Amino acid sequence: MKIMTKPVSKLAKNGYPTVHNSIAQNWTRLPLVAAVMTLVACGGDNAAFSGNNPDPEKPPEYQQDTSGEIQGPTGVYLFEETLADTSGQGNDAEEVGHSLNYSALGNISYDDQDGIHALSSAAVFDGISGLRLTGNVIASKDYSVSMWVKPSGSNQGPLFYGELDGNQILLNAEGLTVSGQTGQGAAGDEPVTYTSSDFQLMPNVWQHVAFTVRDGFVDLYLDGERVYENGTLFTDNHTFENDWKMETDAFADFFSMGGGTFAIGVTHSDEDEPFIGKIDNVRIYNSALYHGNITTLAREVVNEGPSADMMAQWVDPNVELDWTLERFDASSIHIVRSAFSANETVVLTEESGALSGDASSYVDPAPIGESYQYFLQATDAEGHVYESAPTEYLRVPGTEAYAAVSAELNESSENIELTLYTENMDPTTFDVLRDTNNDIADAILIAEGVTGDTYIDQKDDDFPHVSGTPYYYWVSVTDGVSGEVTTSLALPQASASAAGTYIPPGTFVLEELTDGFCGVDGAVENNNAGFTGWGFANTDNAENMGIRWRIAVEEAGTYDLTVTYANGAGDNRWGRLEANGVVLVDQINLISTGAWTTYETVSTSIVLEAGETALSMIAGTGGGLGNIDSLTFSSTTGGSAPVGVACSE
Ligand code: GCU
Ligand code: CA
Repeated sequence: MKIMTKPVSKLAKNGYPTVHNSIAQNWTRLPLVAAVMTLVACGGDNAAFSGNNPDPEKPPEYQQDTSGEIQGPTGVYLFEETLADTSGQGNDAEEVGHSLNYSALGNISYDDQDGIHALSSAAVFDGISGLRLTGNVIASKDYSVSMWVKPSGSNQGPLFYGELDGNQILLNAEGLTVSGQTGQGAAGDEPVTYTSSDFQLMPNVWQHVAFTVRDGFVDLYLDGERVYENGTLFTDNHTFENDWKMETDAFADFFSMGGGTFAIGVTHSDEDEPFIGKIDNVRIYNSALYHGNITTLAREVVNEGPSADMMAQWVDPNVELDWTLERFDASSIHIVRSAFSANETVVLTEESGALSGDASSYVDPAPIGESYQYFLQATDAEGHVYESAPTEYLRVPGTEAYAAVSAELNESSENIELTLYTENMDPTTFDVLRDTNNDIADAILIAEGVTGDTYIDQKDDDFPHVSGTPYYYWVSVTDGVSGEVTTSLALPQASASAAGTYIPPGTFVLEELTDGFCGVDGAVENNNAGFTGWGFANTDNAENMGIRWRIAVEEAGTYDLTVTYANGAGDNRWGRLEANGVVLVDQINLISTGAWTTYETVSTSIVLEAGETALSMIAGTGGGLGNIDSLTFSSTTGGSAPVGVACSE
């Protein structure tokens, strides 16, 4: 058998969907209780990640369609508890046993918790069953097959199989193998496998696999990346061992006369062990899709979990909330409020009862002076719960003296401009303190007796501020009448952003409940103070409990990763870090920090592939992990930092 491997270089920019840098929020809208400036670029290099940037190598024929609209599928199997073909061609699938020789013997079940889409189901292949696709699902010399697969363990079973007159194509974990009249070998029938070292299927994770055949040339894709590319085989004068050259005509015409047999999970041979695992959203086309189309299909599940966009406004004396809830069929909604300095969370709708699922506004009647965040908890008819990310902190004026400061980078002068905010005060002067962490105890006094309500922290030799470093500010305000001094509070979250080209993008802080945080085997909580962001991820106290994130980087390379955590237990609550289900760091030590309110950091470096990575940290001891406050990533090469990719579980 010939193995044809011709890895193609990975494409740098591959049509990522819009991703949001969670740091780039607009904080200056809101008078907060203290200020922080994080020097992070939100334009510049990250711009390559936004927009539905199609394949940069797209040919003119590229169909700029969404997955559902790519023209002409001849078979679409979404496995929503059915084997029906939803392409409109009537090529339904039917169960077979161990091979295509055992009609009506197999049993395909569905997992309604594990489809590729939120709240959708996938087909479960048990290792003794498969599917025959009825009708002429492929009857052309050009065709494409796109599917989502989640193999169990290291199982190598057939994914897609087609046969006509003894000519066969077989897609499995090895690649695409063609046998029959291949034109190879002395008798012209030596099988050929099209694959590359980049075609590695991972156990127990969803991956998108596709191949296209155009005029007898095969392209193979994994997760939207072309891992085997045949289009230039002859034009770049590539010569294989023994001057091998493919007889394209024979292969090109395998299926065009129609009447072939097509299967998922099995072949004609009783020798082939059927596939074990899950398969979802199989799409077959009687045309060769282009790379951009495949990328679109491979991105169909990104950014598609539930989302809620909530706005909070203070309309004296109430706080008015408005929201839109998408991709979640709520039957009831609760509104939750957390107060910054009280460090408490209240379900506002507890006593009055949940709102109806289609509610889109709520009035919080006259809350007391505080800085509040709001979020909603929606429940659907089947009991799934979706909790939205919290709003930014909203200041409701109180009756006591109160001071706060906001900070913003002036892009042209590169100075950081501070604005004072007070309540119930008659300020004369204020002092400004600055630090690179949010503990005022060791902050330095940078200005005294400032008048007015602004202060400019100039970038100069004394303050050559550094990209990627957060700068925290506090003000101590002296009341002109009472002489009383009021100092702004420590900060709940870093939320200022600085755009501009002069700052090399470098650092990304991934907080819970923002894009890039997918879930925790446990809960997101905020009862142990000292965290940044909304709170921290607290795993259940058992081995193998984990936290999952999803990030994307433009460039493959080494990145520094700093984990901020608290561990009030005495022992080392270490975890292992996995990327796409493969161990990346054996052991990240989360040694005791002495108290659950003491947060410390531990750093390691990790190697990331270009594109998206599903990260998980999994507890190595029976205590679970320490409480994880945030992950901070920075490029070691001056390249752009990772971004968080919206994900939900
Ligand atoms: C305490 C602490 C939690 C922590 C837990 C644990 O209950 O408040 O935040 O996760 O201990 O032991 O894991
Ligand atoms: Ca815990």
